[in-house]
Amino acid sequence: LKIFSGHSNPTIAHEICHHLGIALSPMEISRFSNDNLHVQILENVRERDVFIVQSFTHPVSDHIMELMIAIDALRSASARRITVVIPYYSYARSDKKDAPRISITGRLIADLLQTAGANRVLTMDLHADQVHGFFGVPVDHLTALPTLVSHVKDNYDTSNIVAVATDAGGAKRVGKFSTRLNVPMAIIDKRRVSDTQVKQGVVVGDVKGKDAFILEDEISTAGTLISTVETLLAAGVKSVHAAATHGVLCGPAIERIQNSGIESVITTNTVTIDASKQTDKLTLLSVA
Ligand code: R5P
Repeated sequence: LKIFSGHSNPTIAHEICHHLGIALSPMEISRFSNDNLHVQILENVRERDVFIVQSFTHPVSDHIMELMIAIDALRSASARRITVVIPYYSYARSDKKDAPRISITGRLIADLLQTAGANRVLTMDLHADQVHGFFGVPVDHLTALPTLVSHVKDNYDTSNIVAVATDAGGAKRVGKFSTRLNVPMAIIDKRRVSDTQVKQGVVVGDVKGKDAFILEDEISTAGTLISTVETLLAAGVKSVHAAATHGVLCGPAIERIQNSGIESVITTNTVTIDASKQTDKLTLLSVA
């Protein structure tokens, strides 16, 4: 078994290798002067079971292209099986035709991975479970839920917690979270206004005086999160916390979290969080 890493998240790749007791295999990724990417596998992979770790993080297109080229290089080098490990599959959010003349890009990228030569995909907490079906190769769809739940159990008093879904789409996920924590749940009615803004209304469930724990697949601009925090505080909760598998934290996310009434945010290392994004409110767990 050999493990390679692209540029998006070498930290989790190294941690995975550490758990397995093997070294990360060398792969060189460079750029020609005309901006074309160049990937070279630096050891023999003939008939090997090979894994490449790459999250779809900023710059997403470059990271996807690195992965496609690496898969093709491994295939040309006669690897026996190529598994792509995509801790964060960002294009899972492009999963339906919700406007005229648009691409279902989550499916397109799945097709391209297969065309490049991926034999299997291992990913985590896709935005919607059904995105799994976009892939023509076997998918292991893992979840960070056990990691998040055990951290909550170990670090919070769960006796007054209500688990909160920011919209109806997240209800199933939050249902599993609330079952594992043995706490009640609530759902908020959300409408997306733009890429960075949402509007929320009715809270379905009893939240007054409770410690609200929001569960999300990802926190991107934190627009959803902050709107949920405001809705919950207006509804009379005692405190608000959040857990999300993917801490994308782009644009105004950190500032929004810092300036909001949320007390703590837990996320995982499916996405690398650089030092400039670290805040006292943020706890980073490993899912390696
Ligand atoms: C939306 O349906 C997702 O579950 C997340 O709420 C969303 O992707 C987060 O994006 P943002 O942080 O930009 O609101």
